[in-house]
Amino acid sequence: MKTNVAIIGGGPSGLLLSQLLHTRGIESIVLERKTKDYVLGRIRAGVLEQGMVSLMEEAGCADRLHAECFVHDGTFVAYGDEMFRIDFKEHTGTPVIVYGQTEVTRDLYEAREKADGQIEFNVEDVVIHNADSDAPYVTYTVDGQERRIDCDFVAGCDGFHGVSRKTIPADKLREYEKVYPFGWLGILSETPPINHELIYSNSERGFALASMRNENLCRYYIQCSLSDTEEDWSDEAFWEEFKKRIPADQAEKLITGPSIEKSIAPLRSFVTEPMRWGRLFLCGDAAHIVPPTGAKGLNTAASDVHYLYNGLRDYYENGSSKGIDSYSEKALARVWKAERFSWWFSSLMHRYPDQTEFDLKMQVAELEYLRSNEAAQRAMAENYVGLPY
Ligand code: APR
Ligand code: PHB
Repeated sequence: MKTNVAIIGGGPSGLLLSQLLHTRGIESIVLERKTKDYVLGRIRAGVLEQGMVSLMEEAGCADRLHAECFVHDGTFVAYGDEMFRIDFKEHTGTPVIVYGQTEVTRDLYEAREKADGQIEFNVEDVVIHNADSDAPYVTYTVDGQERRIDCDFVAGCDGFHGVSRKTIPADKLREYEKVYPFGWLGILSETPPINHELIYSNSERGFALASMRNENLCRYYIQCSLSDTEEDWSDEAFWEEFKKRIPADQAEKLITGPSIEKSIAPLRSFVTEPMRWGRLFLCGDAAHIVPPTGAKGLNTAASDVHYLYNGLRDYYENGSSKGIDSYSEKALARVWKAERFSWWFSSLMHRYPDQTEFDLKMQVAELEYLRSNEAAQRAMAENYVGLPY
């Protein structure tokens, strides 16, 4: 087979890139190692920056998003029984959009299918060849059958555990990593939200987050030990612990119910430089991971897609490689700012096993500064709603 762009990975970044390229008549083939249902079965975050929403609009798949999303003009930060609000609208004029990543991925699959987009599922043995030449190609197998795609470019949108990043010679890559000494235990419950906006809570028992998907579907998280397993946490134990980690007046309002999904995710900050090697471009989790505290995972994948899509447009429409040549630099500049914000917010809101009394005093002083200082609130609001592309 022959195409313009071979895209490895049928997650949100691969599908968004494929759909955007399609709107400009640029062909692509998406290779996904799992089934569509498996990809849609993964529960992920759900806060979208305006940049991500604009890309979904440009891709022609934002109707359901606008019809079903929540528009949040702010968020709440709690510590102990104190709680204060960060007003995004007042500080930046921009809200965030609460709409599940699973729904984003579902809308993108629908759009690709409507456009007869080419997606191969259950692919195995994906190998990227000659990425450092003008004639890259990708080989893979489906049902034991060997296949080959000749292409102009390869987009590595295959996540942290994919093959794309591993295709780049180790001496050409620089990796930066920070692993946090705790995880997040998250549940999904068919219960009404505790509050009209998210609550991020730093309590003496650890972090907690109250988030939502719709009027009767909520997502709650607590910081947990990395040695914990889902089996260690019954729903009762989760709700008991969650109530102890949010202000008492909020705990009184909490409506609990059986969890319909429960999972533990480790927290990691990770960045790969560069994000391009020859005709191979890394996007999203294939190149960088953020701890979920700042809700920057999907949104930073989106800005990668924005830079790559516009670089490829420039190449196919104007014959210029300026955009693709500056892709890695532009994408990384925004990635590092998202990494910094996610690390800062994670450091502020979690309790560390080796935290000293002094460290705790620093957290409280930073929270107090954030509660009482306009400039600090504006800085947080600007980063949370998303820095410009
Ligand atoms: N061949 C084909 N597909 C692969 C391979 C491979 N060798 N390895 C992985 N994949 C697929 C995975 O099955 C997955 O569906 O690539 C896809 C990568 O999708 P994501 O991990 O969702 O990554 P991305 O699209 O970059 O989205 C980033 O996802 O994890 C969240 O917080 C993260 O929100 C961010 C978003
Ligand atoms: C979520 O809704 O799952 C969510 C929201 C905000 C975060 C992380 C996760 O920071």
